[in-house]
Amino acid sequence: MLITFEGLDFCGKSTQIKLLKDYLENKKQKTVLLIREPGGTNISEKVRELLLDKKNKEMFIETELLLFSASRAQLVRQIIIPEIRKGNFVLSDRFHDSSIAYQGYGRGLKVSTVKDIQSFAIGDALPSVTFFIDIPIEEFIERRDHRKGSSLDRIENSDIEFYQKVREGYLKLCNEEERFVLINGINQIEEVHNEIISYLNQKIFETEK
Ligand code: TYD
Repeated sequence: MLITFEGLDFCGKSTQIKLLKDYLENKKQKTVLLIREPGGTNISEKVRELLLDKKNKEMFIETELLLFSASRAQLVRQIIIPEIRKGNFVLSDRFHDSSIAYQGYGRGLKVSTVKDIQSFAIGDALPSVTFFIDIPIEEFIERRDHRKGSSLDRIENSDIEFYQKVREGYLKLCNEEERFVLINGINQIEEVHNEIISYLNQKIFETEK
């Protein structure tokens, strides 16, 4: 089963994904593979470097979209599908919805085109559940300001208006797609974690039996 986590940078999804991995391994005795996007294979990690390098200022939005999607196409076929076929869990820190939210809604590329490219890149590997960890823009600004300017990557350096559009895009996806679960990322870490596991236990694992 593929479960993905989405949200603005600094929303806390990396912490939540690790907590869920521990829960599934220790409490449910499952084999869990944790991956992050972009990356996860040799080829995808090389593409990641290109995408996040602050020196690559000349990169066009179309190139950005295709590189994220290329990295993902490799990850899906090399890692995700074989792992799911073994019956294991795959938890991904970002997946194709990041391209729809960031390159589509955020950068302004035509959303239907971005979605078509995602279908091509991921094939059958559609997530069973996608948790969107939502934080308000004010919280995002506060968290970003805590980080030194130099440690932000090419995309994290984008302006606030961009992030507003990304968040609105995610909220639209939450309304449109049944697999999306909106989680309030302002709550305490433990509270957010409990919300995630109770959703999975009630809505996903129960119906599998
Ligand atoms: P990363 O350091 O992995 O950020 P995070 O920990 O927040 O996931 O960098 C990934 C950056 O790339 C992040 O700013 C989101 C962006 N991104 C896109 O714009 N499109 C995509 O398809 C993906 C996967 C990420």
